[in-house]
Amino acid sequence: MKQLRSISAMRSWRGFLSNRLVLVPTMGALHHGHAALIRRARKIAGSNGSVCVSIFVNPTQFGPNEDFSAYPRPLAKDLALCRAEGVDAVFLPKARDIYRSDASVSLQESTLSNTLCGRSRPGHFSGVLTIVAKLFFITLPTHAVFGEKDWQQLAIIRRMVRDLDIPVEIAGCPTVRETDFLAASSRNAYLTPVNRAQAPRIFAALKNASALSSIPAVIRSAQKSLAAIPGARIDYLEAVHAATLAPLRNRKSPGRLAVAVFLGKARLIDNIPLPVLP
Ligand code: PAJ
Repeated sequence: MKQLRSISAMRSWRGFLSNRLVLVPTMGALHHGHAALIRRARKIAGSNGSVCVSIFVNPTQFGPNEDFSAYPRPLAKDLALCRAEGVDAVFLPKARDIYRSDASVSLQESTLSNTLCGRSRPGHFSGVLTIVAKLFFITLPTHAVFGEKDWQQLAIIRRMVRDLDIPVEIAGCPTVRETDFLAASSRNAYLTPVNRAQAPRIFAALKNASALSSIPAVIRSAQKSLAAIPGARIDYLEAVHAATLAPLRNRKSPGRLAVAVFLGKARLIDNIPLPVLP
């Protein structure tokens, strides 16, 4: 497995490839959710293609009071996971190579990012889109894989690729969960044992609510279950259209029930489908 630590090393490795290159962008602290993305990438790449995982804790997508410095960076463990999953190359750029101190160009999405995490984390999706576009330009992948765990991120990246005619095919991967159905996340490490024991109730709240037939009933039910979790504070809870992320009015279009909850120091997000009801 190649370790590419500069943009020029990445570009010269890329230059020798003539088949598919599938990119899996990550911020490291890899877990079995990321492993599922890598396996999906391996499948898309096929036996002649290559898989590249980028590991970069992107400073521009963190707000001033967020966890950029505290974000876990277990590099040796991450490399071992990539090796075990048959990754061909890991791209490990340095922040000073990615962002010039006088950088003055960035990307902005102006519709899908006005809701959910975009509303509570101003500037977050501009940071995400700018780094993802830069990673695309540096690595020139034919395909890239993203997780449904970050549904809004996936929708906004699809929109960027569509609106800017970026020749990269985007694949979405279903959310990987722990055995108690808590969505796997690098940020679960911030949970105290007490909060960790309560955390699966977030998914349970969404799941039970998603069976109800009217949107107000769905929201009321989830709100009630979430409010009953000791120490939990709802950041947002919304039913949105699966593709446009506009507020979902009824169960005649495919939707997503999305939530962000503060549990102690951790801010956990999750979402589940709201399929069309007959
Ligand atoms: P990160 O949080 O490391 O996630 C990397 C990828 O793994 C994302 O596509 C995310 O949706 C996916 N992922 C994380 N947990 C998952 C789970 N439990 N099941 C399925 N997929 C999961 O998302 C980012 O990094 C960054 O914003 C990035 C896109 C790399 C840009 O900096």
